[in-house]
Amino acid sequence: MGVRQRPGLPSAADPARPGGDAAPSRCALAFLRVPDVVELFAGPGGLSEGLRAALGDLDVLAVENDADAVATARAAGHPRVKADVAHYPMRHGRGCDGVAAAPPCQSFSMGGLRLREADPRGRLVHEPLRWALELRPRWVVLEQVPEVLPIWRRHLRALVDAGYRGWCGVVNAVDYSTPQDRRRAVLLARRDGRPVGPPVRHLARISAAAALGWRPADQFGLPRRADPGRHAVEWNGQLYRERDLRRASQPSHTVTGKARSWQRWTRDAQGRPVVVPVELAEVSVLQGFRADYPWRGLRSNRFQALANATPPPLARALVARATR
Ligand SMILES: C[S@@+](CC[C@H](N)C(=O)[O-])C[C@H]1O[C@@H](n2cnc3c(N)ncnc32)[C@H](O)[C@@H]1O
Repeated sequence: MGVRQRPGLPSAADPARPGGDAAPSRCALAFLRVPDVVELFAGPGGLSEGLRAALGDLDVLAVENDADAVATARAAGHPRVKADVAHYPMRHGRGCDGVAAAPPCQSFSMGGLRLREADPRGRLVHEPLRWALELRPRWVVLEQVPEVLPIWRRHLRALVDAGYRGWCGVVNAVDYSTPQDRRRAVLLARRDGRPVGPPVRHLARISAAAALGWRPADQFGLPRRADPGRHAVEWNGQLYRERDLRRASQPSHTVTGKARSWQRWTRDAQGRPVVVPVELAEVSVLQGFRADYPWRGLRSNRFQALANATPPPLARALVARATR
């Protein structure tokens, strides 16, 4: 899909248009543009990758306010408007077919203080609904941590009152070709009268070993010494907390910003036990990105942005379900 124009408006090359066939200014083009999709809190591009995989080359109006996330997305070929979603004029999205968003999760996730809507950042969770009710796109896709499900239920009721049909629930990215256990609350809605249910699960689960060519017997995760009497894994004479580690024969546990400190217990070519860091490129693959995704920013910020991103294969499945 290319750049569409607002219906009823003269085309930029229309001789009847004031100014004739002269090249329109960038400002005029921005006004005339009708994006296919509005993507909010667009981040480094996990959801953008999924949109592209599901729907092809789209004109996306993608709003994001973090400089590193903007730089990463642009390096990967995804456009970004660097702006605050809460203050960006919604008129720029008028006429769009879909709204997709994964608002910030820190106020809701287990790792944060869980201030939820008491935190100004937590209140941003309502922005996609505000945009959807104003723009009335044909379809809506929202994704967040499982703790947000009650809010998605409220939002779905508001969308149904506005003429949508929809579904919300918790899905696991591991069921959508992502080599990671990652539960997410999603909302899918459409306004064309067609029903929407949960996205159809893919058949096979992918292990970390299969995704990355690791030995199935390897173990990986955050190495923390085990307290006496606790479930522990012995590696090279040391005891480590079992719950922080996974066998590579399984999908990864949920990627968080702490993945910057993950290690992998494996064996070298001579069969000796060795511990190696889990690299950003490997965590990218565990999150469903390609290994050479062009992350930008400081090392810790790259891991955090990656951990906050929507896994592209999950995003693809959600968008496909809401649009076909
Ligand atoms: C959960 S992440 C979204 C990740 C994105 N869906 C992806 O797959 O890459 C939330 C994003 O919202 C951005 N953000 C937070 N507050 C914002 C605001 N007020 N306006 C625009 N973006 C904001 C953060 O920088 C972060 O990139």
